[in-house]
Amino acid sequence: MAEVLVTRRPLGDAIERIQKVARVVIWEEDRPIPRDELLNAVSTIHGLYCMLTDRIDDEMMMAAPHLQVISQMAVGVDNIDLASATALRIPVGHTPEVLTETTADTAFALLLAAARRVGEGIDHVRDGRWGPWDPQLLLGTDVHGATLGVVGMGRIGAAIARRAGGFDMRVLYSGSRKPDLEARLGLIHRTLDQLLSESDHVVASVPLTEETRAMFNDATFARMRPSATFVNIARGAVVDHDALSRALEDGTIGAAALDVTDPEPIPADHPLVTDERCTILPHLGSSSGATREAMASLAADNLIAGLTGDPLVACANPAVYAEPDDED
Ligand code: NAP
Ligand code: GLV
Ligand code: GLV
Repeated sequence: MAEVLVTRRPLGDAIERIQKVARVVIWEEDRPIPRDELLNAVSTIHGLYCMLTDRIDDEMMMAAPHLQVISQMAVGVDNIDLASATALRIPVGHTPEVLTETTADTAFALLLAAARRVGEGIDHVRDGRWGPWDPQLLLGTDVHGATLGVVGMGRIGAAIARRAGGFDMRVLYSGSRKPDLEARLGLIHRTLDQLLSESDHVVASVPLTEETRAMFNDATFARMRPSATFVNIARGAVVDHDALSRALEDGTIGAAALDVTDPEPIPADHPLVTDERCTILPHLGSSSGATREAMASLAADNLIAGLTGDPLVACANPAVYAEPDDED
């Protein structure tokens, strides 16, 4: 029988379903499996059900000579060396679509929290600083009617843009042109520089790639408006955190909200953690019970398909299915 390693226990009946086709070992601890343990554990497995906290690189795949499928319970796969997996003919599964709406909700929660200073207001009350109603207390920036720049107009970016419609926002986006979305949602295409200088609020929803790593840096923050809100729900490493810290400190931008940081967790003494204009969540983008269960289930579907030799339901390296002759 095939052997499967699951690196964190998922919600729902994912494990029971996998157990119908494989012998399953689960890392049951309340923290990611240490790398040396993972390197050891993969030597006999046929299927790996992993998390974004596991680094699945060439060395890991070389340590897993029987591996037939990698199934990650996340949509972002920057922790996995897709080129190595494709070269080794290992399909990599991920969980697009099922988390799109929940993650877009989180992006909007962060945008509203940062622009309207929700965290600071909560602290104000908790700290016993709430005095009589004050016409100038914690003045924020409006979200409704403002211009939103979405960097990364993919599944989640489009779901954020749909929400922005309900707030009467004008939505700009950069990157490759999406005529269908422009027509359907009234989106306006801009270069990144134009988007940054025209937007009241900027949301990052790009995948982490060599091109997007640290794309939010001193130069890009300098293009933004002094009142601008910056929201990152992508991956921490798309932002240079020291540059963000400086931009908030010297008023280059107005506020920031991060669902993701680099590293995670961000050290408790990092200047962004103590900066009251920075709202940070512990990577909760897709964290509703229903969505985490749907992700767990799709990851199980991908894993089972890979073990039985069927095409994955959602494959992050479709090149793995190309005939060798089709490849460059
Ligand atoms: P997606 O549908 O692939 O969307 C990503 C979009 O980014 C694509 O439209 C892509 O453009 C665009 N893009 C890539 N590089 C760009 C660049 N340099 N400038 C502008 N746009 C660029 O993926 P998704 O499902 O929306 O997820 C996006 C990312 O969000 C994931 O990769 C993951 O890292 C992150 N995420 C975070 C959470 C969380 O919990 N915070 C949850 C889910 C996802 P093309 O269309 O031209 O390829
Ligand atoms: C979460 O961050 C994901 O990529 O699914
Ligand atoms: C505020 O609470 C108002 O009534 O304007």
